[in-house]
Amino acid sequence: MADAFDLVVIGAGPGGYECAIKAAQLGLSVACVEKNPTLGGTCLNIGCIPSKALLHASELFEEAGHKFEDMGIKVSAPKLDLKKMLAFKQEAIDGNTKGIEFLFKKNKIEWVQGLGTITAPGKVQVGDRVLEAKNIVIATGSDVARLPGIEIDEKVIVSSTGALSFEKVPAKLLVIGGGVIGLELGSVWARLGAQVTVVEFLDGILPGMDGEVAKNFQRILKKQGFDFKLGKKVTKTEKRRGSVRATIEPAAGGEAETLDVDAVLVAVGRVPYTEGLGLDKLGVTLDKRGRVEVDDFMMTNVPGIYAIGDTISGPMLAHKAMEEGVALAEHLAGEYGFVNYNLVPGVVYTSPEVASVGKTEEQLKEAGIDYNVGKFPFTANGRAKANKTTDGFVKILADKKTDLVLGAHIIGVGAGEMIASLAIAMEFSASSEDIARTCIAHPTMSEAIKEAALATTGLPIHM
Ligand code: NAI
Repeated sequence: MADAFDLVVIGAGPGGYECAIKAAQLGLSVACVEKNPTLGGTCLNIGCIPSKALLHASELFEEAGHKFEDMGIKVSAPKLDLKKMLAFKQEAIDGNTKGIEFLFKKNKIEWVQGLGTITAPGKVQVGDRVLEAKNIVIATGSDVARLPGIEIDEKVIVSSTGALSFEKVPAKLLVIGGGVIGLELGSVWARLGAQVTVVEFLDGILPGMDGEVAKNFQRILKKQGFDFKLGKKVTKTEKRRGSVRATIEPAAGGEAETLDVDAVLVAVGRVPYTEGLGLDKLGVTLDKRGRVEVDDFMMTNVPGIYAIGDTISGPMLAHKAMEEGVALAEHLAGEYGFVNYNLVPGVVYTSPEVASVGKTEEQLKEAGIDYNVGKFPFTANGRAKANKTTDGFVKILADKKTDLVLGAHIIGVGAGEMIASLAIAMEFSASSEDIARTCIAHPTMSEAIKEAALATTGLPIHM
């Protein structure tokens, strides 16, 4: 029967498309339901990929304007052609979404366009088609979290989606939320000329990040011109002619202040997106935060219905969803799949980048684990000195008794790439001595990893 499959995946974001591809590679017949006109979900269309294209372009713009001259490169002041920069971003989106289309064709995955509703276990309705499958995977991702009293119009009061497409650079941009999205997209517009103010509810930025790293990173952003209002919340925004007036109050209550800006970015988190799936009727259990509850094999309380990625608990990260998608496909194909939730790296793609994997100092303290700290600043790294990219450091946390590396944190240019070597080392249960004894090419920023490992139990060479 044409509409019968081994597996139907609902949602073609990173979790869903990787699950579909892996399942097809393992011999299952797969359909993937996606309501958007392109594949790739939030990440490829309005998230990771377009934001990275803009971060890249805006960083080069900033460097051309402020750093070239120091290196003896004389250029006239760069001019911004925002329309073209946005077209550059669109090319990145198109290239990636078409890439997934190609992979679907290659793996004989049927893309069923439309909104999928699970009408019964084993049945997914898409328009007037009914797809049948023994197993169904919910991979519908997440949506922007909203704030009461602040209406997002995606023009002047925007979410991450609108902040990827401002028609002109806002002279003053208010960012609500000092998390990853606020700092990444705030960086884009700051580099293109916006004065950025970040209002964060908590007393520090990047909640969940190692405290020392977050504090140091905030200092770096401040040097770049970011203004921070910590322990504050925005309670109201009023659109006026050509501007927005925001009312800002201390988080704990108290006297309000107002701030007039040209645009507001609301970046206060994301919420699972399970609308239209029919979960209510099926009796699929959600937790208090609207996340689908699953067991160790990612199965919901309804047999044959599974969920992955942003719809379930854990960090809302594309690569976490991808790991789950692959592990689940392997499980459904009768193989062994596994996600190591202890080692999901996190990267903030600012300049410098912030990257981490494993435990923070706060988490180790809370768990009562004794640990050694090894730190090495990029000011003492030859390559960083040569490139004048000395902001930041590498910090390694290792178990005091066993020397097992438990956490690694980096602020630095290229930190997002560097953290991969630490994730691999930790996946193989490296000790800090293992890393300290690894030969790392000179001159590279990565040498700071070896030096930090040396510093964990002894002395680094270059300090
Ligand atoms: P987030 O959870 O990272 O940060 C939101 C921030 O807003 C928090 O610091 C929170 O304390 C603050 N906040 C909440 N309510 C507030 C209020 N009323 N006033 C002021 N501050 C308030 O969420 P974000 O940045 O929106 O990102 C959403 C998700 O997308 C996250 O899970 C993030 O990890 C993921 N993401 C990851 C990226 C990456 O890995 N590079 C890039 C972009 C998003």
